[in-house]
Amino acid sequence: MFKIKKMNVFDSFQLGKTIELKNRIVMAPLTRCRAIDNIPNDLMAKYYQQRASAGLIISEGTSPSPNGIGYPRIPGAYSDEQITGWKKIADSVHSEGGKIFVQLMHTGRITAKANMPDGTVTLAPSSIIAAGEMFTETGMVAHDSPKAMTLDEIVSTQNEYVVAAKRLVNEAGIDGIELHAANGYLMNQFMNPKSNRREDQYGGSIENRTRFVLETAKKVADEIGSDKVGIRVSPYGAYNDMQSDYEALEGTFIYLARELAKIELAYIHIVDQRVAFGAPDFTLDIKKIIKENFQGVVISGGDVNSEEKANAILASGLDLVYVGRPFISNPNLVEKLQNNTELVAPDMDTFYSPSEIGYTDY
Ligand code: PHB
Repeated sequence: MFKIKKMNVFDSFQLGKTIELKNRIVMAPLTRCRAIDNIPNDLMAKYYQQRASAGLIISEGTSPSPNGIGYPRIPGAYSDEQITGWKKIADSVHSEGGKIFVQLMHTGRITAKANMPDGTVTLAPSSIIAAGEMFTETGMVAHDSPKAMTLDEIVSTQNEYVVAAKRLVNEAGIDGIELHAANGYLMNQFMNPKSNRREDQYGGSIENRTRFVLETAKKVADEIGSDKVGIRVSPYGAYNDMQSDYEALEGTFIYLARELAKIELAYIHIVDQRVAFGAPDFTLDIKKIIKENFQGVVISGGDVNSEEKANAILASGLDLVYVGRPFISNPNLVEKLQNNTELVAPDMDTFYSPSEIGYTDY
């Protein structure tokens, strides 16, 4: 008789051809707003180094373009200084035997002029203002009114992703990049029918709404290698004024997963907005549907704060488990889960403040 070995979250994992993860716990991308002038710094290198026992760190959302800086003090990856800053972070994580992907987040219409560098333009698939407000250094303001992207702007924006990815991997030594196509930012704005009312080849049908994302994924993969490119999606997400459920949702994610499989992307990362973002319950088992249609590595999570909950995600057929907020206040989270030690609760008041308090002092 043979026994099927149960997957354990503390087992190592081969991601793509070249990346060996020491365990199956992924530190989720978390906006922390410590990048003064949008440049990654030594304090950030220390923060990521402290958390390098995760199998894989996905960095906070990082803009590939000056046009994609939606929040105060988020990092970019489009200037020489930013790439130098990312190199320090890559080196500090690697010195602890960790791995790090940078998440490329272009915020599109989720921004306010006050947060954007001079000379930039707020871009989105359509000229529709997102409901809700954005925080700035001087308080909350309505979201900016975006300009509908021209075909030239679509190509130049895709190229910004390619250049940022190439520099992060080749110059900064980052292990790979994650395309942020979730949570209502630019790529999600193209996919969701509420924010995309285009009548050209980038709007309307499933093929058209996913075109911006798929073309960009292909271009980035061709440049740095498909096994260094992952993607994050948020089916049923409502955060940042997205329509949670829509008629073509299942078809959209089936098509996206199959097309991403053809590009042989390193992984699909599914954020479960039911937990941290209060999204409505899912109508379908969309994680399973995506896994079946992708057949590659799928990361998911949501409310994971114990070894048992992490292993339940693996037992459901997925490959890696993301953990977000517990990593903020428990830098040695992996060890704590292993020893079943009680977790420290994070202080929400310092999630987005500029200093080391509530950042590297847990
Ligand atoms: C946020 O800063 O609130 C934020 C950023 C990126 C996300 C989700 C939330 O994907």
